[in-house]
Amino acid sequence: MRIAISTGGGDAPGLNAVIRAAVLSAVHRGWEVMGIRRGYHGLLGEDEVVTLNADSVRGIAHLGGTILRTTNRGNPFRWPVPQPDGSVLEVDRSDELLENARQLGIDAVITIGGDGSLKLAQQLFEKGLRIVGVPKTIDNDVAGTVSTFGFDTAVNTVLEAIDKLHTTAESHDRVIVIEVMGRHAGFIALHAGLAGTADVILIPEIPYDIERVCEKIRARDRAGRRFSIVVAAEGAFARGGSPYLVERASSGGAARLGGIGDAVARAIEERTGKETRSLVLGHLQRGGQPTGYDRLLATRFGGAAVVAVANEKWGHMVALQSPHIVTVPFTEVLRQPKRVALDHDVVQTARATGISFGD
Ligand code: F6P
Repeated sequence: MRIAISTGGGDAPGLNAVIRAAVLSAVHRGWEVMGIRRGYHGLLGEDEVVTLNADSVRGIAHLGGTILRTTNRGNPFRWPVPQPDGSVLEVDRSDELLENARQLGIDAVITIGGDGSLKLAQQLFEKGLRIVGVPKTIDNDVAGTVSTFGFDTAVNTVLEAIDKLHTTAESHDRVIVIEVMGRHAGFIALHAGLAGTADVILIPEIPYDIERVCEKIRARDRAGRRFSIVVAAEGAFARGGSPYLVERASSGGAARLGGIGDAVARAIEERTGKETRSLVLGHLQRGGQPTGYDRLLATRFGGAAVVAVANEKWGHMVALQSPHIVTVPFTEVLRQPKRVALDHDVVQTARATGISFGD
């Protein structure tokens, strides 16, 4: 048996722990393991396919990033080919990918990725690739699993920032708005905000009214709490509005989420007269050592992915359905993205403890 591992999409702490566990579990069964570098680039001649063995994964479980590198560009079904006139043509290179995998004697692929990578995995599975998935993302927006690995580490990074910002906000009687990642899901903001005892949490699932946010800040002032901490998910937006976007040439002109922190800070300062600062935590949330929780979850996922291959669970993703690791078909996972449920106890407890969602 020869399997290959690929890491795709944005990196997340714990990727290396998954790779390590999968490689060691496979080697333990007497299988051979290959690593496809940079998503699927390695299988399309745009990067390499390398051999992985026990030596290649020694001492990596605690490291952030991925030893296989990753990319959130390079969809083999829509591969961008620049044209002489400056335009870009998208070509389908999926047949080439499958043929190269066949020539390398790859019997099965373990793809470690978020919903984008899992969509690709489903398409490749439909073309006949024997593939299983592992849910990765700091955003925790993959359905079918209680948690993705990487999420807990990101929450802890945000929590550390909130703790530090609390003392300086309080010393200066300031409002500080922290913009955190999460794409169109509010899990990072909600979990870190509640654990960090923020005063306002803005998430995409609950469109806010800036006046309600200011009311909360004024009420705290009246109660002698002259500082406030606002945690804003990058995908949050005002009622009747739309998410804040930034454009970057490096993303091929594609818009990315961002800018809510500064916009909300300005609005609060204008309306309340309080000195307000903002901070974008950005990619800090994707780096660093995975927490113990993420390292363990990633290791369990890596081991379970090899079991899924052994059981020929093609087209399935390993998932945490506490306390067990199970497998869920990609089709079920992809039916709809996971979002914060408004009746969840985390939301209710946040409200009950006085946190405002600006609604
Ligand atoms: O999906 C993970 C994530 O970090 C999101 O939270 C964020 O919106 C996005 O990726 C950032 O992507 P990039 O690495 O391209 O800036």
